[in-house]
Amino acid sequence: MTRTLITGGLVVTAAEETEADVLIEDEKVVALALRGSDEAQAWARSGARTIDATGHYVVPGGVDPHTHMEMPFGGTYASDTFETGTRAAAWGGTTTIVDFAIQRPGESVRAGVETWMGKADGNCAVDYSFHSILSDVNESSLKEMDTLVDEGITSFKLFMAYPGVFYSDDGQILRAMQRGASNGALTMMHAENGIAIDVLVEQALAEGRTDPRYHGEVRKALLESEATHRAIQLARVAGSPLYVVHVSAQEAVEELARARGKGLNVFGETCPQYLFLDVDNLAEPDFGGAKYVCSTPLRPKEHQEHLWRALRTNDLSVVSTDHCPFCFTGQKDLGKGDFSKIPNGMPGVENRMDLLHQAVVEGRINRRRWIEIACATPSRMFGLYPKKGTIAPGADADLVVYDPSARHTISAETHHMNVDYSAYEGIGVTGKARTVLSRGRVVIDDDTYLGAAGHGRFVPRSTCQYLV
Ligand code: URP
Ligand code: ZN
Ligand code: ZN
Ligand code: ZN
Repeated sequence: MTRTLITGGLVVTAAEETEADVLIEDEKVVALALRGSDEAQAWARSGARTIDATGHYVVPGGVDPHTHMEMPFGGTYASDTFETGTRAAAWGGTTTIVDFAIQRPGESVRAGVETWMGKADGNCAVDYSFHSILSDVNESSLKEMDTLVDEGITSFKLFMAYPGVFYSDDGQILRAMQRGASNGALTMMHAENGIAIDVLVEQALAEGRTDPRYHGEVRKALLESEATHRAIQLARVAGSPLYVVHVSAQEAVEELARARGKGLNVFGETCPQYLFLDVDNLAEPDFGGAKYVCSTPLRPKEHQEHLWRALRTNDLSVVSTDHCPFCFTGQKDLGKGDFSKIPNGMPGVENRMDLLHQAVVEGRINRRRWIEIACATPSRMFGLYPKKGTIAPGADADLVVYDPSARHTISAETHHMNVDYSAYEGIGVTGKARTVLSRGRVVIDDDTYLGAAGHGRFVPRSTCQYLV
């Protein structure tokens, strides 16, 4: 048995902040003891390997419940593999990702899950799990949902956008939600009216509006809020919980707030790109805006204040990254002369914990809320708690010794994601993961990677633990 002791730090969880030492045996946290207590002193004498966290926070490893490693999109693949993407996650203090296994139209749901299991198996630096994307809701896919829930795939993403690719119509959505209401699955929704957006795309291109910034103009906030409203009503009819992914528009937040005001099990997630970037990035010259093409799109800056406020009121409960990187050279440029052909997605899995800590530094959220939206709630929402997302006896020893005063500048020069640009290039942040443990193994220590591909394991999940 390996015993590890983390001493001298401020342990921060979603629930509390405690000057405590943390005892780890092999892969698990076994106990916490107040600094200087008899117990802590006895541990210190026991000869355990000691990690000194003086002047640092000891926080749960980040749980990023929305990533797309190696995702096929528009004739190419997201540039991070499970190996490079989970290594970058570890660098940024994230020790669990939940990625998406895609059912292709005409294929079984299970075939998608098996394909994605194959991509991840033996390659991950940190633990991982999968949601399933349903692209072909029919009688047999609905039946498959039941068995997948039993096997730990307990959430299913549906798309109201991307007609002809991932799109489901309202009838298919209702059926999948009804199934979720009966088997406990959580329905995740990409809420944008894709049929209407495609009309606006066609019109924009016909008028010669081909630059990346038109991606933002045609994917209107009203078409996000309309779809959000429709998804909520369908979920109410089905009696199903709903989790709306990558919320960016103030009007969509208002729909969530109204539903939550009625006490419904409706939850929302946003992402750092919507909190820190805006349409001015999409308008960067020389096709530079392509770096910021993702869906839902970046919005005018005014929306950011509404997202931050919703993160405080819990109308938005989670910050994920929607990490889906495509290189500027060789991938984003597939859409030169036609913004609709730019692969959709942005990198960020390495940056989320630091950007959100920066929000703590700036007084937008407090430290416990930082851990709640980035670790504890994603874990509860997707059935990983208390294994992941907290520091408590019995939890996995996925821990970060976080230096709250380390200043650094985010840059593609120094990041570890396999992508040739940073969406946050030049942004200065205060706070950095110094030591990262994944199930008791030190994977990052003082700017050195000590992990290994294959250390990360698939984690089956229970059903949502966040329902009211
Ligand atoms: O643009 C995005 N968000 N790409 C990833 C796929 C998705 O819709 O989440
Ligand atoms: Zn989406
Ligand atoms: Zn996504
Ligand atoms: Zn330090």
